[in-house]
Amino acid sequence: MIVTTKELFKAAYGKYAIGAYNINNLEQTMGLFRGCIDSSAPFIIQISKGARSYTDKIMIEGLIRSADQVFPDAIFAVHLDHGDEQTCYDCINSGFYSSVMIDASAEPFEKNVEITKRVVDAAHAKGIVVEAELGKLGGVEEHVSVNEADAKLTDPDQAKKFVELTGCDSLACAIGTSHGAFKFSGTQGLHFDVLSAIQKNLPGFPLVMHGSSSVPQDEVARINAAGGNLKGAKGVDDTQFRRAAELGVTKINIDTDGRLVWTRVHREYFIEHPENFDLRPVGKVFMSEYAKFIADKNAKLGSAGQLEAVRKLVSK
Ligand code: G3H
Ligand code: 13P
Ligand code: ZN
Repeated sequence: MIVTTKELFKAAYGKYAIGAYNINNLEQTMGLFRGCIDSSAPFIIQISKGARSYTDKIMIEGLIRSADQVFPDAIFAVHLDHGDEQTCYDCINSGFYSSVMIDASAEPFEKNVEITKRVVDAAHAKGIVVEAELGKLGGVEEHVSVNEADAKLTDPDQAKKFVELTGCDSLACAIGTSHGAFKFSGTQGLHFDVLSAIQKNLPGFPLVMHGSSSVPQDEVARINAAGGNLKGAKGVDDTQFRRAAELGVTKINIDTDGRLVWTRVHREYFIEHPENFDLRPVGKVFMSEYAKFIADKNAKLGSAGQLEAVRKLVSK
């Protein structure tokens, strides 16, 4: 069942966070749904601009519609990840997405407000909710490139003003994370002081943490042992998810960790089975490993076991 992120956030706020997972293909879609059903968790499917053009945006929608039929118990939101203004309108008008993210965070404050407000007005007219972003994460995003050195944490006073001026439904804040597999140069970590100040200014308002992959060191070691080269990769300590959730983070974005599962499975599989050239045996291993990975993440986010409580809330 497709719901809006707003409904999911109402259930989760202050208690746990909903996992927001990026998908690009059939195997990820199957693994994601299986993992969420196995762990009884509501979830958010994220589709980036890159995912929409990897095959075709219609293909990705078709995969999700089919998964909804194959897993009738699943409750999830369909969300555009890091949209520009035009892609937001495309998704709003498609009638398929329940939530879009407008990412105008690279623009000056006033321009970010202006663009976000236009998208909010168009989305709300169709019952679709909007995530916006204020502050700059480190690392590289699809259409926004920011050096770690230039990363700018979200200003709590600006955050309050931004939400009032735009009417957005949730806010992605920069609190020290970055996208990709190489986070936290030096001794940097999550800035809970900034998060706490944002929550004080926006009590009850859903916050979003991007760049939240934990880049497990055992996964990195296995990839490197199987011929990969990811030296120095590191991520967010996922035991901190619950603390972030208590401070108003209701959506936690994870993409890179799933890519690491894919890379480890495929590298190891073909070393162990050099004679194999059938794509299905390795695909089956990946779907099963991906489902396990998702269930484990949901346990860390606190969303595992919440599916029936959310069902009661959304069917009221
Ligand atoms: O924040 C970006 C997400 O990890 C999506 O990545 O744009 O390469 O699909 P992508
Ligand atoms: P990671 O690169 O840490 O997985 O972050 C993903 C993300 O923020 C997608 O929007
Ligand atoms: Zn992101």
